[in-house]
Amino acid sequence: MKITVVGAGAVGASCAEYIAIKNFASEVVLVDIKENYAEGKAMDLMQTASLNSFDTKITGSTNDYSLTKNSTVAVITSGIPRKPGMSREELIGINAGIVKNVSQNLIKFSPNVIIIIVSNPMDTMSYLAHKVTNLPKNRIIGMGGALDSARFKYRLSESLDSPSSDISALVIGGHSDKGMVPLTRIATRNSINVSNFLTKEKLEEIKQATKVGGATLTSMLGTSAWYAPGAAVSSIVQSICCDQKKMFPCSVLLEGEYNLTDLSIGVPVILGKNGVEEIIELELDDLEKANLIESSEGVKKTNNILNEMNLF
Ligand code: LAC
Repeated sequence: MKITVVGAGAVGASCAEYIAIKNFASEVVLVDIKENYAEGKAMDLMQTASLNSFDTKITGSTNDYSLTKNSTVAVITSGIPRKPGMSREELIGINAGIVKNVSQNLIKFSPNVIIIIVSNPMDTMSYLAHKVTNLPKNRIIGMGGALDSARFKYRLSESLDSPSSDISALVIGGHSDKGMVPLTRIATRNSINVSNFLTKEKLEEIKQATKVGGATLTSMLGTSAWYAPGAAVSSIVQSICCDQKKMFPCSVLLEGEYNLTDLSIGVPVILGKNGVEEIIELELDDLEKANLIESSEGVKKTNNILNEMNLF
């Protein structure tokens, strides 16, 4: 099973590394536009194979998409990352053209590919990928919610002094500081609602810290994060490639679910060999519904910029 990761920067290389370490793919092809950069990252990673005990072959390509031929899954991480103080939405001007170009190159050589979008603004880039490829909606998946939920679990586990593996929690909505909807109401510690352990005020604090999880790291690192994004992508790719049917919140095209249409936004989905196998419609309370609607309005506003860019 071959997986392509486009963009050999920090996020792309972390994706490739985690995918290789999980040892479920025969090959990972890293693609980058910078001459020899993907080849260099691939060689460096391959020199960890004997140390980290994986058999996945990692190769690099300088923008030669013929080497990605017949990929089962392709991950798009290309584009510029956030700098401190920037919103994800500010990246649209540069990243939209790149994501369009990359998506079209990928399907030329892998007509059956399932595409995972990481590039920001992630929900809008997922919507754009639908528009420029016309792939069935089960085959374009934005990864934001899987990352945001992992960050939510981290914050909960920290406050509970509990291992993250005991926490179950979801973030739905757009992958933006304002748009994320962390569902504190249904978060649990080993099936017991977290409200049994944490005050309302603490839960509100956790919710706010989760929403700015990416921005907090960007200000600490000077660029956007890569370990958790890479790990989130590798879990999504594994669920698809190994037909695990795990549930992750991901940005998918909605056609009436949650009373929303004509946008990609984060909702829980089941991921298996066909990509998105099912969209789960949660019973939301009134506040969560209002938050999701507000979030969708933010995503649509960013999507509207695409129309002005004449990309499709
Ligand atoms: C983040 C970027 C990947 O949230 O959107 O870290």
